[in-house]
Amino acid sequence: MSDGRALAREFLEQQRMLGGEPVILSDTASTPGSRPGSARPSATPTPLTPGVSPGKVSALPPAGLSYDPPGGDLFSNDPVPQAASLEVIARLVTSCTKCRLCDGRRHAVPGEGPGDARLVVVGEGPGRVEDDTGRPFVGPAGELLTKILAAIELPRERVFICNVVKCRPPENRLPQYDEIAACLPYLHRQVELLKPKVILAMGGTAAQTLLDTKQSLGSLRNRVHRFRGIPVIVTYHPAALLRNPNWKRPTWDDVRIARRLLD
Ligand code: URA
Ligand code: SF4
Repeated sequence: MSDGRALAREFLEQQRMLGGEPVILSDTASTPGSRPGSARPSATPTPLTPGVSPGKVSALPPAGLSYDPPGGDLFSNDPVPQAASLEVIARLVTSCTKCRLCDGRRHAVPGEGPGDARLVVVGEGPGRVEDDTGRPFVGPAGELLTKILAAIELPRERVFICNVVKCRPPENRLPQYDEIAACLPYLHRQVELLKPKVILAMGGTAAQTLLDTKQSLGSLRNRVHRFRGIPVIVTYHPAALLRNPNWKRPTWDDVRIARRLLD
């Protein structure tokens, strides 16, 4: 049997890490014999989370879309679908000029993480700090991603983190359709080599690209989709969470689903 209070503590700690609202427990929640006057007198009882018990997740969400992109042509001499390792992909990305995004980049950002990662996180494209450093998710959104991963007990060093497009779009605009199409073989080969247990698609671009759909992020959330048979969980992009903290709570629900699929 789990200790309810331990679960509640873990839940609150995770909420804190994700920047959730402070939860003030009323006096009525304290155990008999606790110090009188220790509760804040004016506090109104705040339900932890309506309808959800701490630390406990009900059944997995229903199945969603399933996408199986066609495999590479055995007889073509395109090096990308045949790249033997993640390092080879990274080298090909670094010298890639297949779309206009190569013009403005300082560094291409192939992605990083261990070859045996069980979780692959896919974002949209490099931002300014990523373009400066050549590393994915190291700016403000990356710091939030690191916290989100820590909250599900996954140090980011154990996760492979990459993006749909590997070069920064000017002024962080959305990547255009032809840019995504040009870059997609890299992502497909990365996933093929990594064979992760779960893919976490962060934001509409990642979700729609991986699942080959135009459906909105809102309608893609809370489903277990598949990419080449690998479960795909869709959630908000950390940069969107920085603008709209109300989405932290649903994001937390989503990453817990990913966590459960990993366990
Ligand atoms: N946003 C992304 O989508 N990817 C990054 O690497 C950084 C910010
Ligand atoms: Fe090549 Fe992708 Fe960079 Fe375009 S975004 S230049 S396809 S690596």
